[in-house]
Amino acid sequence: MEAIQIAIDGPAGAGKSTIAKELAYRLDYTYIDTGAMYRALTYAVLKENVKIDDIPQILEVTRNTEMSFKKGNIFINDILVNNEVRSIVVSQNVSYIARIPEIREILVDIQRRIASNQNVVMDGRDIGTKVLPDAKLKIFLTASVEERANRRYSELILKGLDVNLNDIKEEIITRDKMDEERSCSPLKAADDSIKIDTTDKTVEEVIRQIIFLLNERI
Ligand code: CDP
Ligand code: CDP
Repeated sequence: MEAIQIAIDGPAGAGKSTIAKELAYRLDYTYIDTGAMYRALTYAVLKENVKIDDIPQILEVTRNTEMSFKKGNIFINDILVNNEVRSIVVSQNVSYIARIPEIREILVDIQRRIASNQNVVMDGRDIGTKVLPDAKLKIFLTASVEERANRRYSELILKGLDVNLNDIKEEIITRDKMDEERSCSPLKAADDSIKIDTTDKTVEEVIRQIIFLLNERI
């Protein structure tokens, strides 16, 4: 039977990973967090003290880095790095790595391979436009930047981190701008995607809406 692919894209903090993970759990599909791949690579590059614009060295680190994703955990060369890849410094640098076409080519290839033989919910920035252009359902999640910054702030405060709401808002605005303006596979809603503004919606409401849309298609 043909594998079913659900693509979820959108800017930072729109709710992509929360929604995609829960949706995958309820449908018994595999969840693939493509942002985690770009983050893991960024973490590896920073750890090797490679400059963020040194493309040959970044590609060298990429070749020597083994990333694996098991049950929601991220490993680099067999070391668990779940918290490290979500750090502020990785968030501030990831869009520089993600705009390098050669890096995107390598990661898109891996993402397509994973999605080729199983039902998946995949979230990112270019899933509907580039990675899975034939996905059965494409969702583009949005929310106001204030709401997105508040969500990220609450998450980090809950983790006991000392963070500033304005800094988070600035980081989100800068990252979205870089993701939207890069030439290779920018953050953009696919023409055939369905946009859902989650600003005033609960996670449950969004999930139900997506399951309803999926049931219409299969
Ligand atoms: O969770 P959050 O929305 O903050 O970010 P993420 O999904 O973990 O993605 C981190 C970064 O990776 C994004 O800001 C993009 O620069 C890059 N990314 C990308 O370019 N393409 C993807 N498919 C996924 C992420
Ligand atoms: O992956 P992305 O950066 O798009 O967002 P996320 O990491 O899933 O973070 C979204 C946060 O907003 C989580 O703490 C969710 O519980 C919360 N939230 C949501 O995702 N969707 C809503 N409709 C309301 C809140």
